[in-house]
Amino acid sequence: MYINFWYPMATSEELVADKPLKVRAVGQDFVVFRDTEGQAACLSNTCTHRGGSLSAGKIKGDCVECPYHGWQFDAAGQCQRIPSLGPDGKVPGRTRIDAYPVEEKYGMVFAFLGDLSESERPPVLTVQEWEQEGWRSTLQHYAIVGNYERSVENGLDPAHNEFVHDTHGFQGENEEYKIGDMRIEEAPSWGPWGNGFWHVFNAPPLPEGQMQSGRTQSGDLEVGTGHHGPNSLWTYIHAGPTTWFHQYLFERPVDEGNIHLYLLCMRNAFLEEKNDAYMIERNQYVANQDKVVIEELRPVLTPPTTTKEFMVPADKVILMYRDKLKEWDAKGWRIDTDEVDRNAKRVAYAIPSPARREHKGWVLDSIPLIAGDAAAAKLKAAS
Ligand code: FES
Ligand SMILES: [Fe+2]
Repeated sequence: MYINFWYPMATSEELVADKPLKVRAVGQDFVVFRDTEGQAACLSNTCTHRGGSLSAGKIKGDCVECPYHGWQFDAAGQCQRIPSLGPDGKVPGRTRIDAYPVEEKYGMVFAFLGDLSESERPPVLTVQEWEQEGWRSTLQHYAIVGNYERSVENGLDPAHNEFVHDTHGFQGENEEYKIGDMRIEEAPSWGPWGNGFWHVFNAPPLPEGQMQSGRTQSGDLEVGTGHHGPNSLWTYIHAGPTTWFHQYLFERPVDEGNIHLYLLCMRNAFLEEKNDAYMIERNQYVANQDKVVIEELRPVLTPPTTTKEFMVPADKVILMYRDKLKEWDAKGWRIDTDEVDRNAKRVAYAIPSPARREHKGWVLDSIPLIAGDAAAAKLKAAS
């Protein structure tokens, strides 16, 4: 898991006024809340006084109030009030807590969990069709017990469709089956943060029941898919020249073995509102088929080298994804989860926020990261 990327923390709907929300991401706890203007904010959840859980507290004006002794923190992480000091008490600067940049878009609240300055940050994956004429969206949120890198790799895998999805493949019954040409879209066409590919495959008639109003005959689907950063995916399904489904999957690793997924599906067909529930049901039907497979993958984490798996040409973009991860390893952005686990009972860590570059003297330790050169050495030793 990495610092310095945007993570979906909640849907806009889930984040109601006057109620702090506890959200776990990359193995740490955060409090997400709205100020009096409705602006979303995200702070490290651990109170700098004596470790209270801020998300168990209350919203007071533009602040979240710790349930233990009532200290109040604003959206910038500044402590505004320490009740035990009395009305004239001066709040020491070192009480500040990490606050993370937040963007609320596409019906979701994203937090940037890292310390990069605004100009250095990778962007949230852009949803080009958002609020465009002729497009309509649905958003759904579900959980998987598994590792998010495994889940992203599932999205980049053209060969699983034939076996995992009866909506997309023939369940291994097609003797002629093979993976056709994959047209790779290397960075920079998708920006420096990802890679993708397009391919065409023959899909069967849609199954009865859950897929009532779909393809009644087999047909070619043109599908493009790729990743953006370590934790988001785009999948464009062109079922015909004018029937397009452009899906965006934003994943939040809760920890190394659990994921929360936010699937935003844009469509330019079946535009009536009454079709939304059907689209969600249909997407969930497919997502659940992936979920069953991802939850049983072993090891839970992808092996550190490709010699512990046997890759074939259809796995090409998965290898490209792993190369991208290595680039971010080399920047020193990977969290040292072994070290975090070792100290779990003794140390409350915080993901470093941008303010750590300006201010010294923070109460909470910054989370341990695997140094870029150490990541390279570890990789070398394992190969
Ligand atoms: S622990 Fe939060 S106010 Fe004391
Ligand atoms: Fe799938």
